[in-house]
Formats: sequence, structure tokens, C-alpha cells
Amino acid sequence: MSIEYDNNTRIFTLHTNNSTYQMQADSFGYLLHLYYGRRANGFANWELTYADRGFSASPYDAGNDRTYSLDVLPQEFPSQGTGDYRNTMLEVRDSEGVYGCDLRYDGYEIRDGKYSLNGLPAVYANHNEEAQTLIITLKNERLNLSVKLLYGVLPDKDIITRSVIIKNEGTKKITVMKLCSACLDFTHGSFDLITFHGHHMMERQFDRQEVHHGSSLIGSRRGMSSHQYNPFLILADHDTTEKSGRCWGMQFVYSGGFEAGAELDQFNQTRVFMGLSQEKFAYELEADEEIIGPEVIMTFSNEGFGKLSQNYHECIRENIRRGKFRDAERPIVLNTWEALYFDFNGKKIMEVAREAKELGIDMLVIDDGWFMNRNDDCRALGDWTVDESKLGCSLGELANMINELGLKAGLWVEPEMISEDSRLYREHPDWAMIIPNEKPTLGRNQLVLDLSRNDVREYIFNVISSILEQANIEYLKWDYNRSINEAFSHETDNGKTMYDYMLGLYEILERINSCYPNVLIEGCAGGGGRFDAGMLYYTPRIWCSDNTDAIDRLKIHYGTSFGYPASVLSAHVSVCPNHQTGRITPLKTRYIAAMSGAFGYELNPSFLSADEKQEVISQIEQYKQNSKIINEGLYYRLSAPDCETFCAWEYISRDGSKILLNVITLLNHGNMSQIYVTPKGLTPGAFYRDIESEKIYAADILMDSGFPLKMPTRDFEGYIFRFERIQ
Ligand code: GLA
Repeated sequence: MSIEYDNNTRIFTLHTNNSTYQMQADSFGYLLHLYYGRRANGFANWELTYADRGFSASPYDAGNDRTYSLDVLPQEFPSQGTGDYRNTMLEVRDSEGVYGCDLRYDGYEIRDGKYSLNGLPAVYANHNEEAQTLIITLKNERLNLSVKLLYGVLPDKDIITRSVIIKNEGTKKITVMKLCSACLDFTHGSFDLITFHGHHMMERQFDRQEVHHGSSLIGSRRGMSSHQYNPFLILADHDTTEKSGRCWGMQFVYSGGFEAGAELDQFNQTRVFMGLSQEKFAYELEADEEIIGPEVIMTFSNEGFGKLSQNYHECIRENIRRGKFRDAERPIVLNTWEALYFDFNGKKIMEVAREAKELGIDMLVIDDGWFMNRNDDCRALGDWTVDESKLGCSLGELANMINELGLKAGLWVEPEMISEDSRLYREHPDWAMIIPNEKPTLGRNQLVLDLSRNDVREYIFNVISSILEQANIEYLKWDYNRSINEAFSHETDNGKTMYDYMLGLYEILERINSCYPNVLIEGCAGGGGRFDAGMLYYTPRIWCSDNTDAIDRLKIHYGTSFGYPASVLSAHVSVCPNHQTGRITPLKTRYIAAMSGAFGYELNPSFLSADEKQEVISQIEQYKQNSKIINEGLYYRLSAPDCETFCAWEYISRDGSKILLNVITLLNHGNMSQIYVTPKGLTPGAFYRDIESEKIYAADILMDSGFPLKMPTRDFEGYIFRFERIQ
């Protein structure tokens, strides 16, 4: 059993193979957090200490006992107005405008299987034995409010998930002003907070800072999980490395605004937390209404960041991604964006398609510009009428011609948007999220459709459905190219719009997935602006960044790899000089950078020389041979984020017998020191053969001291090593 309850102490213990999580409903009915860390057997419970702390209030029931204060004690779901002045998880306001909500334990339920969340993405179990669910109910009697804390335990994956359902069980309106889904309290210890910041074209940059007094906050107020901060964090001991030490992860299964962070309090206790953004949020609950706090996926590793990442990779691959494309081999796509931008017609598309076929590409994705009036990025979003005069035929005919070459056809769409210059806007100005009598903000010249409205959702579904019915499109690149600013809806209450927008988006995606299970959807938001586990539930891969420069991508892929597996990260080889940075890199290096994900090309093959074409043909053949280990193997980072000489990473097959190891060197310098690369995860005591050089290495020596890299003769040299275990 992975969930245990002791009736005498009211202690709940959750076990995964390598971690234990413990909490207690104490004698006052407060749910205190006891422990989350290395697996412990039995009931050797964590001991809490109590002391009289000035200016830390006590609950009335504690009477004269001034040593009991929620301002100090570690809790599972601290709420505002209970004397806890730290970052709390819940703030509510009653119909009289009074804040505060004292929550007491009311009962629990343990079930086999993993809970699901109505309308929201969540980790699922492949079979009932894979997971257990614990639901703890807390109540506030004055408000008639119930709080259900949901815990999902996947022991073999070392995963514990958390979510929360807030329900108004009374008759008067209650407004939820703030809602976090999970927090972790640590009574002592000194930690680092690791987060992934960035911007458009440079997403998910690794950042490690000491947790200091006060709060370190990350989040997004943009109505999207954002390029700026990924909804993912790691708390780690100062000495935790890739290979050793304790670390705890929190990953949000949500694609909208969020808030997360770490706080070091007055007694050097640490609280980490994650939940919905408070920006433009005031969620009114009428009688019997509820709101669900999106899921947080937590994992603990005592073996450093490498193991923590592998836990997330497994969970996303097997318990977040769904459907036919969960495990299917990734098609190698050629996307027309950097090949043609808006400058194309049907003839040019077919020229690219023919060349792509000769290179061994599986699918041609027609990017932006295929619909009426869309010859730049200033107009026509929302209309989605095929521009047959530009294509020279119908979309169905174009897709058929592509299919006849032996390629599949894919299509770019941006369904959540509306241009001011569009028929849709002229007909339905109230469908755009703009504040009446005020000039709206424009992002890439466009406005956001109000997905909290049913009629808008219906329109979007019908548009997508009509595209898929008229042409054999087997892949959609689902883009989203601006942030939400005006949280205004003509229909929904404005404090609800941001959250209901996300429910609306998930509803549409779910409907498309179930009606068109053979269509693979790639998520995109100006590259990686919505790179999160929520989107991955519906779109099994995401365009990682609009930056295709191989060297910038190394850092983007490095940061992304902490929380997400290679198989969800779309990466394409593009031309040189690179369109975003102007950098020139060898074709092999661009290939190596792109093969660390769902691989493809983003270039016009007719601009390649005969030698380059030959090289691309071999790259595609080689990628196909390696795609299993890349998409299913265990992933290891082999270089530090600040390493200035090289970047290296490795995939290893589940049985440890095969290794694919990639290295890209950075700027070359005169008379450089020798570079050594040290593989990880090999079978101790075994020997490995380098398939190309036939050299034999002892696994233990490789893992201890590494092997010397043939010195680069230019900047940005790329190396691929394949090792196999020979005994
Ligand atoms: C976004 C995407 C790009 C491309 C353009 C098309 O920026 O991230 O890959 O599809 O839109 O307008």
C-alpha cells in the first residue's frame, strides 16, 4: 500500500519507492505537514517542536498555550486569516466582504487508482494498481466551505501529485481571491531555488539562487504559462549536484497564469508553493459551486537533479501524454516557416515537398499564410478561409498532392486569436477580449478570442473540424502568439475570465483529440511560451522556441530537460546564417542540437548544396536509427550550465546496453586545455565499445574520469558517440 493512515495518531503516510510524505491531522484539527524526503519505513514520525513565539498568534482553542501558532507550524494547506502570515494557499472573502477561512480536518478517503480533474489536465494511471488516491476533507463551518485536498501517489514513478477542490456548500456567495494547489514546508535547512526564466526566443534558462529571507516569486500574469518563467521549480540543498543530493520538484499541470516561489521565514523555515496567478482573479462561488486548483506534480530525488529529471520524463511520457501519439514514432517534419515565411503559393509548396521527399522527410507542415488575406502577420486571424487563389487549388487537393509524393501533410493554425482586420471581428467584436470604450492593447497586431464563451468555443471547434474534414491534414501546429492583457468577457464574470479561458481551451483540445484521434497536435506559443505539462496532455509535442540557432538551443534544451523529456521538445535544423542570431554553425552541429528532441527541418531544401543534401539524407537515416533511444531512453546531462567550453548530454537504453552521447563544443581558443566528457548511468563493472573507433572502455573508468575529446578545430564542433556494452 502506498497510502497508510494511522487512526491513533491521525497520521497519513504516502510512500513511493524512494520517498515518503507524511502529514497529521492534529488534536485541533489542523493538517500539519510532517515530512517529505527519503523513503522511511514504519511510523518513525517526524517530530515537531513548539515554542512561545512573540507576535505569532495562537488559535482560540489553544487557550493559554502560546507555543501553538500556525505562523510557525508546517502545514499542508495554510489559509489566510488563521494567524499564518507567510504565503498562504487560500484566500476567501464572504458575501459581507470579510476575509479569512479557518480550515479544520473533517475526514479522509483512500482509493485505488488516480483521481482525475473535471475539465483540467492531470496525471493519469495506466491501470488501477499503478496509483492510489487520498482525499482529505477540510471544512470551515462559518462559511460552509469544503476543501478537498487530493493526493495521487504513483510509487514506481516516485511521483506524488496534489490538487484541491474548493466548494461552497452554503447558500451565500463566497469569492476565492487566491488559490494555490500545493505547498511544502520545511522546518529547517538551507536551500537553493532553481527556476527557469527567459524570454521569446530564449526560453527556460537555468537559474539557481539561495532561498533568502522574504519571498522569491516567479509566475506569469499573461494568461499563458509564458516564455518568461516556466511553471516548474526545484528546491535543493546547496550541495546537490546532477549526481547526488536531495532535491524536490514542483511542476504545474496548467497552461495559464501561475504563481510559485519559496519563502524563508523568521525562524529560517522554508515554504515552497505553486498555484494560480492572483492577477485579475476573484472567483465567485454561488451555492454548490466549486473551483479546482490545477494539479502540481511533485517528486523527490536523493540522487541529484539527474534522477529528479528522469522522474519527470517518465511521468510526462507515460502518465501525461495520451492517445495514439503517446508512444508512436515521431514523424520527421519539414516546416515551411523559415523556408518560405509568407512568400509562397501552391507551386512553391510542392517544390519544397518534392525536395523534402528526396531527403527522407515524413511530413510537410504548411505554416502561416495559407488562408485568405494572410500575406503578413497583421490580419485575417479568425477567418480561416483557404486562399485557393494563392494555393492554386483547394487545401484538400494540395494535401492530396503532398500525400501522393509519399508525405503526410500538416498545417499551422492559431485558433485562439482574432485580428481587428478580419470578417470575424467585424461580425463579432464582442468575441474579442477587449474592454468596451477603451483602446485594446495589440500583440503582434492581434486580439485574443474569449474562450470562456461557449459560442466562441463552438466556432473554433467548427473551424478546425471543417479544415480537417476538407483535407487530409494529419498534424496541426497549434500556435498562440500574444499574451492576454484585457481579462474582459461580455459573458463571464471578469474575476473568472482568466481561469475559465483555460478551461475553455482544454475543452476544445479535448474535443478535437477525441473526434480526430489520428491528428497529431504540436503545441506552440511563439515557440515555447506555453511549454507546460497542461498542454502536453493534449499536444504530445511542443515547438520549443522560435530560436532555431543551434548554440542558443543548447541552453534552451538544457533548461527544458530538467522538467520535460526529449520526445516532447520539437527541434528543427535551419539554415546558416541563422535567421535569429546570424550565427554560422556546421550542418552536423545543427543536426546534433536538433536531434535532442522531436526532430525536423525548417529550411528550403533547394538552397542546400548537393553535399549538404547528401548529409541531410544521412542525418535522417541516422536519426531514425537512434530515435528509440532518444525518445525512450534515460537522459543524462553531462555538462554544467555555465560550462564555457562544451555542452554534452547522453541517452541510455533501459537495459544500459546502448548509449548515444552528443557533444557540441563552444568557442574555440588557441592552445585549449583538453576536454574530457564523463558519461553517466553505465553498468558498473561492465565494458563498453565505442562503435565508431572500436575502442573498449571500462564503465567505471568512464564514469569516474571520462574520455578525452578529439580537440575541435573550429567553433561549434559537433560529436556523436555510440557505445555498446560488451560484457
Ligand atoms: C509563431 C511560431 C512560428 C511561426 C509563426 C507564424 O511565431 O512560433 O514558428 O509558426 O508564428 O506566424
